[in-house]
Amino acid sequence: MQEYLSQFNHLASLFLAQLDKMPSAKLNSQIKHKSLSEVPSGATSALLTLQKEIIPQLSGSAGPRYWGFVTGGANPAALFADWLVSTFDQNVSKGGDSIASEVEHQTLSWLRELFYLPDTFDGLITTGATSSNILAAITARQFAGNKQNVHVAKDGMNNLSVEIFASCPHASMVKALGLAGFGQHNITFIEKVENTESINIELLEQDLLESRAVSKIVLASAATVTTTSFDNLESIAKLCQKYNAWLHVDAAFGIFERCLNGPDSLTKGLEFADSITVDFHKWLNVPYDAGGFFTQHLNLVAQSCEVVAPYLINNSDKKDFLAIGIENSRRFRALPIWYTIHTYGREGINQWISQNIECTKLLANWVAKHPKLTLAFEPNLNVCGFYLSEQPQKTNLLLDEINQLGEVFLSPGEWQGKFIIRAALSNWQTKESDIEIAITSIERAINNMCA
Ligand SMILES: Cc1ncc(COP(=O)(O)O)c(C=O)c1O
Repeated sequence: MQEYLSQFNHLASLFLAQLDKMPSAKLNSQIKHKSLSEVPSGATSALLTLQKEIIPQLSGSAGPRYWGFVTGGANPAALFADWLVSTFDQNVSKGGDSIASEVEHQTLSWLRELFYLPDTFDGLITTGATSSNILAAITARQFAGNKQNVHVAKDGMNNLSVEIFASCPHASMVKALGLAGFGQHNITFIEKVENTESINIELLEQDLLESRAVSKIVLASAATVTTTSFDNLESIAKLCQKYNAWLHVDAAFGIFERCLNGPDSLTKGLEFADSITVDFHKWLNVPYDAGGFFTQHLNLVAQSCEVVAPYLINNSDKKDFLAIGIENSRRFRALPIWYTIHTYGREGINQWISQNIECTKLLANWVAKHPKLTLAFEPNLNVCGFYLSEQPQKTNLLLDEINQLGEVFLSPGEWQGKFIIRAALSNWQTKESDIEIAITSIERAINNMCA
């Protein structure tokens, strides 16, 4: 073990020292096929293979210029805590045999404060926003069933009468609807407000009014993944109250705008949601995999997730985490979040959030002035979208060229029927000099295409 620990220190230090210089993405990586070794090949051989064949083909996704999807890095405090999570190897399943469950409860309490959410919200740390959206779907399903005297978790869907309304649900939310048995196609799409991805409130009200479904669910966003549009949560919450509809808000990364600007800004009304999805491996910059699920109806989650087994009996009033989540055995994934909040506080976290927003503006200003590029929309948060002005149909080739150069990694999006390139900045290390490096690289990619 001592040898592993010193090798670990050496390898981790080397990797972190070169992160900034590594290609942001390693395209076309390949693993050598090897048959299973029946006899031990030993730690030295495994280490050599790792060093020669695996590490050189890793991406710099933890670094400052991996701007694909919405991806955070791992801040130093969280990384340290995450290493310890494996060392401690606690099973945060049932409370009562270690302090780990209490740490998760304290973390949830700090998160409520960080995001200005009332104490009526409770929940748990999940593996990411996708699993939080799955929990949201099964909790809303239970709400829908209870209205029709059907205990869905126990008795199945029983031809439940449900209508689900959304304008721009994240792909993971659509996946969650499929997994929960609603069906991925079972969404009533509400038209968006012009030039945004936000729900048109008047049209939502009209549809809620005309809906013949007994149970109604509204899926809102804060923020969407392409244009970072925020739904008008205050108005939607009022409508949900009026029409007795469940309101779920996917605030995977948009909730950090609330951490920065307070409860009366773009997420105003979030406090009235029935459930909320949050992602911590995005803007909180803790390592994968870490998300959060909050709800004001924890009893409905328990109705969906709790099963009886003699060895799982709980004698306390508080629900065990295994009774309100997908997994029974659970990693101590609260610790890196706890450590991050403890170490940096709101001020420290807000520092990298506002730096990302400033850097996004710098990039957008450059794009807006570029003779060959068009800025797709004015950024309001951390995503800058753009396309080739004269030949928009070749924008995908430009994206390939940029990613091949390896200085910055960007991913595709679609906006108003056009293929666009998206730069989503959510890494704690990204600074002005990274924007300069990216600009030089994008310029080179444009020139390569024209050559
Ligand atoms: C708004 C939103 N919801 C959900 C997800 C899914 O998150 P994860 O991949 O962490 O499960 C994402 C990821 O980009 C997202 O942006």
